[in-house]
Amino acid sequence: MILLHEPTLKGNEKKYLSECINTNWISTSGKFINLFEKEICKYTKSKHVVLVNSGTSALHISLLLSNIKPGDEVIVPTVSFIAPINAVNYCKASPIFIDVDDYLNIDIKKVISFLENETITKNNLTYNKKTKKKISAIIVVHVFGNLVNLKPLINICKKKKIDLIEDAAESFGSYYKNSQKIKHAGTIGKFGCLSFNGNKIITCGGGGAILTQSKVLADKARYLVTQAKNDPVNFVHDNVGYNYKMTNLHAAVGIAQIKNIKKILLNKKKIFNFYFKEISKINGVSMILNPKYCNSNNWINLIRIDKEKYKKNVKQLIKIFTIYGIQVRPVWFLNHLQKPYKHYQRYNIIKAKKLLDTVLCVPSSASLKKNQIKKITNLLRNKNI
Ligand SMILES: Cc1ncc(COP(=O)(O)O)c(C=O)c1O
Repeated sequence: MILLHEPTLKGNEKKYLSECINTNWISTSGKFINLFEKEICKYTKSKHVVLVNSGTSALHISLLLSNIKPGDEVIVPTVSFIAPINAVNYCKASPIFIDVDDYLNIDIKKVISFLENETITKNNLTYNKKTKKKISAIIVVHVFGNLVNLKPLINICKKKKIDLIEDAAESFGSYYKNSQKIKHAGTIGKFGCLSFNGNKIITCGGGGAILTQSKVLADKARYLVTQAKNDPVNFVHDNVGYNYKMTNLHAAVGIAQIKNIKKILLNKKKIFNFYFKEISKINGVSMILNPKYCNSNNWINLIRIDKEKYKKNVKQLIKIFTIYGIQVRPVWFLNHLQKPYKHYQRYNIIKAKKLLDTVLCVPSSASLKKNQIKKITNLLRNKNI
């Protein structure tokens, strides 16, 4: 079986896990937690990092600390894993769904058009003309490793008092290369959220992180994820908190993983380039490329099918790949059509509707070999493998 994305556990994972077990530091305190936070700061140049037990909890806390109140609205992409939309729901707020751009990221031009034409400003805050609700934040999701072009969005968000949260779960290691200093995914918005789930570029088994450039916000996040404990001796809690901390066991795996990030990213780039070379030879199939302004971690490679030229559709291709033991997937079912969310507002969604039929996610593990990629591209060419 060639899987879509397997972890690469080639470092000191076992050694560090044994150290946790041998010393009894297996829970939410311990040296690996501090070390892993420091390493993420060093790598991303984020001033502060708070480790949590999942990317979803990172998103939930980021929304709470952006003052999302019940009844508020949050702008989100319709194409994304569902976690950020669920996090909006945990806050009893409503999503507003936006279309995708050519890289499958939220379409910033449409976000700006929505903000300019469909909202009004009252007392310095932004309200939705249609629902009359306050729009408090936007979650941009950097999908599959490609970064959202944030430049045009930053000023309008500031002007409209809308907090910018980056869901960088899939884009750890991706960075913007246009600016004089490179800027890592998750370090531009008020918060950046990472995931270390098993399928991510580096993993802890499960886990996540909140990135912020503000010490005040980092301290607040640390407080909320520790059950909002005000007094650790008498266990006084002045607020409702959450049990969202990462354990030392998970951080032990994380620290072993981050030490190998350069090698993992190098392999990912080689895999992208080899796919590109092979797929360029096939009529009716192309790769979704990386935007010029960013260096992508190439987490998952995506191919686009031209239904006119290439005689099979995504569904038929999935059947064929499955027979040969190769795991491929369509992009996520659109969030604005999911049962819990189909009654919420959506704005001018056109491109996203075509993706399910035309885009395929192909195996992309950092350990993928050239002969395996050949097997995949030969199948795409209808050649026997
Ligand atoms: C875009 C995106 N956001 C959030 C998450 C949630 O992360 P976690 O599974 O760690 O909760 C994931 C993936 O799992 C994701 O792909």
